[in-house]
Amino acid sequence: MTSEQPGRIPFNRPFATGREHRYIDEAIAAAHLSSDGQFSRRCSQWLEERTGAAAALMVHSATAALELAMIVADLKPGDEVIMPSYTFVSTANAVVLRGATPVFVDIRPDTLNLDERLVEEAVGPATRAIVPVHYAGVGASVRELEEIAGRWGLWMIEDAAQGVMARLDGRALGSFGALGALSFHETKNVTCGEGGALLVNDTALVRVAEVARDKGTNRMDLLSGVTAHYTWIQQGSSYGMSELNAAFLWAQLESADDLTRRRMRLWDAYHEALLDMEEHGLLRRPVILEGVAHNAHMYYVLVEDRTTRDRLIDALARKGVQAVFHYVPLHDSPGGLRYGRSHGALSVTTNVAGRLVRLPLWIGMDETQVATVADAVRSALSRPRSAVGPTGT
Ligand SMILES: Cc1ncc(COP(=O)(O)O)c(C=O)c1O
Repeated sequence: MTSEQPGRIPFNRPFATGREHRYIDEAIAAAHLSSDGQFSRRCSQWLEERTGAAAALMVHSATAALELAMIVADLKPGDEVIMPSYTFVSTANAVVLRGATPVFVDIRPDTLNLDERLVEEAVGPATRAIVPVHYAGVGASVRELEEIAGRWGLWMIEDAAQGVMARLDGRALGSFGALGALSFHETKNVTCGEGGALLVNDTALVRVAEVARDKGTNRMDLLSGVTAHYTWIQQGSSYGMSELNAAFLWAQLESADDLTRRRMRLWDAYHEALLDMEEHGLLRRPVILEGVAHNAHMYYVLVEDRTTRDRLIDALARKGVQAVFHYVPLHDSPGGLRYGRSHGALSVTTNVAGRLVRLPLWIGMDETQVATVADAVRSALSRPRSAVGPTGT
């Protein structure tokens, strides 16, 4: 493959280890297809060991995990929850579905995560929780946010949808707050098509989370023989993960270290290949702060402005490379204006959202293809322009 005539390089291609079929067959043979079968239990246990969570509840998506978290936090109409606007819509929807209000705060220009320096001034009498999002599997400033949450008696609930296998100061993302949401969607590093987990880091919350996940019933007590009487206890919904998905996921979790290493090689190859372009002010590469062990979930670049971004995406598409922009900020979306409110100007969010391009990164891609993409980026941005500084402004 040459940079002049590359084959098509899609943005993402889900990977299968080869064991998924066998495990799904085993799940069928075990005749337990709903939640909490043997594969689901293995996945939970694996996640608990890796993250240190008191419980890892398997659910059908990170969206479900976030909704479940907001039930556990007992959010009520009138409550407010601080979060970035630069995030996936599920972070906000989970809050809005409880009748509560997302309060959008700007992100840091370096990591693109919630700017902890702006959070305390956004805390008011109605604030109940802070929801940091670990963008691109790069740990947000959870230590500082934990302190703020502690000072004001708030929940910290991590949206670690992109953060499986990533760490901050040696600790798994999703394990810092009372609750953390992980995603196993097709686009994530470890997948089962649609799937997620709620990390429950406070032992006292495990039962309420299990009950809320199981339609508000005592199903887990029934399954474990604690009771013979199945009954409705509290609010809940149907958030469990099918055993068929858990069987698929187990094949991936068994290989999660290898999958992360393979992604990391591609991420590092991009980072190396694009260094000179950053030095020439043509783009800005991701910033990884000390203590952050990211998971190579995503490789993005920030270019000069929206016009350059669109030009880059078009130029790459003409060469068969599928690159994509990312979040449309929530604070000025129709839903955000209707259900949420902004704290401050959110100028970094608006600026970054117009300049960010995500490059293909999936297992099965090789380093030659990374070089092809990097060359295509280089030729598309070849005209020297003003520096794209580390502050992203
Ligand atoms: C930050 C963030 N939160 C939540 C989600 C929702 O994840 P899921 O598709 O598993 O519901 C995503 C999905 O991309 C995400 O990026």
